[in-house]
Amino acid sequence: MSVYILGIESSCDDTSAAIIKDNVILANIIANQEVHRQYGGVVPELASRAHQQNIIPVIESTIKKAGIVKEQIQAVAFTRGPGLLGSLLVGVSFAKAFALGLGIPLIEIDHLQAHILAHFIQNEENPHSIPGFPFLCLTVSGGHTQIVLVKDYFEMEIIGKTIDDAAGEAFDKASKIMNLGYPGGPLIDKYAKEGNPAAFEFAKPHIPGLDFSFSGLKTSFLYFLRDRLKENPDFILQNLNDLCASIQATIVSVLMDKLQKASSQTGINRIAIAGGVSANSSLRTNIMDAQKKLGWEVFIPRFVYSTDNAAMIAVAGYYKYLKKDFSNQMAIPYSRSKM
Ligand code: KG4
Ligand code: ZN
Repeated sequence: MSVYILGIESSCDDTSAAIIKDNVILANIIANQEVHRQYGGVVPELASRAHQQNIIPVIESTIKKAGIVKEQIQAVAFTRGPGLLGSLLVGVSFAKAFALGLGIPLIEIDHLQAHILAHFIQNEENPHSIPGFPFLCLTVSGGHTQIVLVKDYFEMEIIGKTIDDAAGEAFDKASKIMNLGYPGGPLIDKYAKEGNPAAFEFAKPHIPGLDFSFSGLKTSFLYFLRDRLKENPDFILQNLNDLCASIQATIVSVLMDKLQKASSQTGINRIAIAGGVSANSSLRTNIMDAQKKLGWEVFIPRFVYSTDNAAMIAVAGYYKYLKKDFSNQMAIPYSRSKM
């Protein structure tokens, strides 16, 4: 018999709910919080308040869109962490109350594992090929950059990670330096499409092994622009597309180099990408090219499941439901990764 699960995601600035029937998604609604745009980044206090305003309407519309009634839901999966504590508390508290009210089990989900498990979401009209185990997943978001060896649904080993900034942070900080706005990734991606990726060269980090570092790149970008702006105050405006294309090409090439190294070291050529930065068009093109050039079998999530969403929480919930891996009313959020 099929199982219906409600997924709830509230770790940062998106309030999202999803209903899944086994691993097939029936509804996935995401309410973005526009309030942060004017501050150039997420303001935690405002994020919690906006989650509080959004959560009931988002859940109601998701259940309605899925075409079910709440009594059909057999479990509630929620993001327990990592993320902003105030934001997480809203989703966690709602999930507990909902589960208690309906007398159904609670399932706690790690946000980073869920980004990876987004590859297992099925869609009725459009079936999607799912990765076999083991595979490597490059998880790149606003807060994390990791290469994960995925041995099974919940058996994951981090084999490389950033020692400072995340890849998404590098996009967001470069955007801030150019006064483009927040979040920076999609804006840089947009302008880069019209620019020359070889127009400017920025020093790439030299970090041993499979780890990453992006803070030096941000500083070199800052100093480079500071010097050019002294000579020409309109430098950014006049070179915006080329600047975006060049910084994007540098970030993507750092990611691709390490992924290639991870693949040769482990002998695994089943490669997936996940997290907000996996929406990047240049990263997607590079991964597709590697499929041809390096013989990789690649897995790219649907655009809507790259950035934060509750469908990934619901699908992770489904695989925990099968194992009867339930949480309880004592669960409290965590801010730092436990993986
Ligand atoms: O996974 P996500 O939605 O939230 C976190 O868990 O952090 O990732 C958000 C990050 C932001 O840094 C954003 O700038 C980046 O993903 N991002 C992109 C693109 N779309 C979102 N970065 C590069 N290119 C994109 N198209
Ligand atoms: Zn995320």
